[in-house]
Amino acid sequence: MSRGSEFVVVANRLPVDRKVGADGIPRWRRSPGGLVSAIAPVMRNRKGTWIGWTGAPDEEIEPFEEDGMSLHPIAQSAEEVELYYEGFSNATLWPLYHDVVATPVYDRAMWDAYVRVNRRFAEAAAEVASDGAIVWVQDYQLQLVPRMLRELRPDLRIGFFLHIPFPPLELFWQLPWRRQILEGLLGADLVGFQLPGAAANFVRLCRRLLEARYVKQDVYWDDRLVRARAFPISVDVGELDELVGSPEVQERAQEIRNDLGDATVLLGVDRLDYTKGITQRLQAFGELFEDGHLKPGQAVFVQIATPSRERVEQYQLLREEIEQQVGRINGEYGELGFPVIHYMHSSYDRPELTALYLAADVMVVTPLRDGMNLVAKEYVACRKDLRGALVLSEFTGAAAELKRGAFQVNPYDIDGLKGTLLSALAAEPAEQARRMRVMRRRVIENDVDRWARTFLSELERPERSVQARPAPVSAEG
Ligand code: ADP
Ligand code: G6P
Repeated sequence: MSRGSEFVVVANRLPVDRKVGADGIPRWRRSPGGLVSAIAPVMRNRKGTWIGWTGAPDEEIEPFEEDGMSLHPIAQSAEEVELYYEGFSNATLWPLYHDVVATPVYDRAMWDAYVRVNRRFAEAAAEVASDGAIVWVQDYQLQLVPRMLRELRPDLRIGFFLHIPFPPLELFWQLPWRRQILEGLLGADLVGFQLPGAAANFVRLCRRLLEARYVKQDVYWDDRLVRARAFPISVDVGELDELVGSPEVQERAQEIRNDLGDATVLLGVDRLDYTKGITQRLQAFGELFEDGHLKPGQAVFVQIATPSRERVEQYQLLREEIEQQVGRINGEYGELGFPVIHYMHSSYDRPELTALYLAADVMVVTPLRDGMNLVAKEYVACRKDLRGALVLSEFTGAAAELKRGAFQVNPYDIDGLKGTLLSALAAEPAEQARRMRVMRRRVIENDVDRWARTFLSELERPERSVQARPAPVSAEG
């Protein structure tokens, strides 16, 4: 293999995954989730290689080109998928980093698989990267890669970005392998987080757990300086703009509205994940019918839930719960021809998703915890018409930027959520426009291209010389 790439992205997932259809024919589809939505446009604009997994077990696939990107697949055995991906990544780290909203599993076999698969990714990056290349490692599945890669290739400039929240010390401390994870991340030159609070959590942990020396958000480790910084991720405004301008998408939005009759349309778009607060929002919506605030035919909730991590128990339980809840609410409050919730358990292409955003009067985003939430920003980016209202959980990263224009909620507070849904439903066009304008300014100014440029220029910024640095503060208790 040639060491050819000056820019390498390493993520658990490739931007496309391989699904074998009912006809037995394998097809490539866009992979789910915010990481792919954000990194794919960045990669299309920069020549580089994306190292990742195809989403299915036991697949040895040669590197290939897709949609202007060079993709370098990494295989995972069925056992590794179970222990590393479904296990340590999504049954341990995912709930731990999201405020322990589900109970994390701590299992040594899962940890061993996490180490093994991280090493495979690091070795692949070491082979693919050219001398002095930039390697950008993504997300919680690969936190050991920066250190492993530095050991193999000290010439590289290594960045790491965490797409999900980074927990406070009090929660992170539970992790039996807490030290190894921190040391893994400290192999990077720059560790990026969604919010300043997450970067502060990281520095505090380095101080307390590793007794590392630091100055503000610079940590000194192994005779190197590691910067911890916040870079709030965003959406591809140009792509969405183009979709909004397309006559097909506009027609499709109109068609969706016609299909839903005269009802005001509320929309939820999420991976089917227990962090997203889907049951809370549906409960609040259902109670508005019970209380007589809404009548069937007057308002309808469209909930799109992308299948996600379907073999992990918590996700299976959640699916059952949501499907029962939808059935119960429709059974109780729906009328012939007027269901109050339309629930779709599937994935949609970008034009269809854009049409849904345009058709929605109220976008409902209620995670219990979310690193950023790109759906909220996509909705705002699509509403050039300055119509529509965004109901947004305080516990999303997006709330930091959109709080002035959004209807903010605490999704744990069902009465508060009901009241906020009613306020959003009642907002007059002038108020909608005022709020949307403020939010759009933020999203348009800080789109995903700017996010990537800011991260990469910070990564490439030369370190100050040792002499010029202020004296690091000693670790304290
Ligand atoms: P997460 O990364 O946790 O899934 P985000 O809201 O940050 O959450 O990102 C989700 C991404 O996945 C968005 O870009 C959104 O458009 C996309 N997405 C969510 N649901 C669907 C769906 N049903 N079909 C297609 N894309 C979806
Ligand atoms: C979130 C995570 C990503 C992940 C995505 C989809 O966005 O931050 O790392 O790829 O969810 O989840 P999946 O498990 O299907 O890759």
